[in-house]
Amino acid sequence: MYTDYQKHLETELRQIQAEGLWKKEHKITSPQITNMRISGREVLNFCSNNYLGLANYWKTTKAAAKGIEAYGYGMASVRFICGTQTIHLKLEKEISDFFGTEDTILYGSCFDANGGLFETLLDERDAVISDALNHASIIDGIRLCKAKRFRYANADMSDLEEQIKAASGCRFRLIATDAVFSMDGNAAPLDEIYRLAERYNAMIMVDESHSAGVLGKTGTGLTEVYKLKGKIEIITGTLGKALGGASGGFTTGKKEIIDLLRQRSRPYLFSNSLPPAVVAGSLKALEVIRNEDKHINNLHKNIAYFLVNIRNAGFDIKPSRSAICAVMIYDATLAHKMAEELLSEGIYVTAFCYPVVPKGEARIRIQISAQHSRSEMMTCIRALVRAGRKFKLLKSPEEN
Ligand SMILES: Cc1ncc(COP(=O)(O)O)c(C=O)c1O
Repeated sequence: MYTDYQKHLETELRQIQAEGLWKKEHKITSPQITNMRISGREVLNFCSNNYLGLANYWKTTKAAAKGIEAYGYGMASVRFICGTQTIHLKLEKEISDFFGTEDTILYGSCFDANGGLFETLLDERDAVISDALNHASIIDGIRLCKAKRFRYANADMSDLEEQIKAASGCRFRLIATDAVFSMDGNAAPLDEIYRLAERYNAMIMVDESHSAGVLGKTGTGLTEVYKLKGKIEIITGTLGKALGGASGGFTTGKKEIIDLLRQRSRPYLFSNSLPPAVVAGSLKALEVIRNEDKHINNLHKNIAYFLVNIRNAGFDIKPSRSAICAVMIYDATLAHKMAEELLSEGIYVTAFCYPVVPKGEARIRIQISAQHSRSEMMTCIRALVRAGRKFKLLKSPEEN
């Protein structure tokens, strides 16, 4: 039975390789830091989500170790059987305070938070109106739900309005958007989305995974930028990026929504509780963000510095409002060659191509951290320019 299927898989795998779309995993032999070792070699890391540098900050690692000592290695249970410790409740409360929301529910990941959201809250009488560039976990969460699906072009408010109108016969309408779009680095116009939601009596779900700890003076994300704290019905996010960098996700928002998720959301009911080390580390990460503004201030300065210099270098980059900078290469094979060339120069970045981004829109995604020094950022830009010249990717000053 397996022989035929094996041949089918081998053909498919060969095709991925032939199209230059094969994703390689590099063997990292150091912790997650800006100066990282790959296969024993020092490289500058420009592709992690460790935006505030807390994934290896001494306070978070110490708190995580203490968490294990005090609460053990794991819970061996889902939350409602015997998997809720006082620290889980404390973390939920801290996340609510951070975002200015009524209540919070933790998940094993934000993928799970998004996966268990829509089908719990909506049914075939309802509508979800989703941005075309939303993260895969939102797309999959919506697929699991029986609500009618409407899609609007990325951050396009006239299209959103059209789609809200098209869904006018539905009982409840939920607009779903990433706060920062992970492949382009642009931010959703949440103020305009909010105005449309008010006008047409719709609700909003926003995923703050790439913006929590990054956007806003105090790092609480896009709702802070647009002064909408406490006004959005549903926020989801991850503890695996700026807010610590280990793992875990959450949904935070209106109390009744969180209450229902606790009763019915399948990834919450049928998957293990977050381990104590991660909970304790995440609690410390939130405390650090609240009490030590140097991390967010460094990040904001670094983003501004990097974006000015990369633009001046003549690359074709997507307009960014976050710590993500997409350097457009378009051709998938060339994007991979560019990433390999940069790695040979000691710069670790990732090439993204189909199916992660649309066909013909391959790119190098660069991610800035509070930990990067100016000289590290300039080393990265100089290496990019050398590789850009080699592969003829730089625009002339007139085009720039
Ligand atoms: C916008 C967005 N949502 C959700 C996720 C999933 O987060 P997690 O790693 O916690 O599952 C990601 C991760 O890449 C993301 O970028």
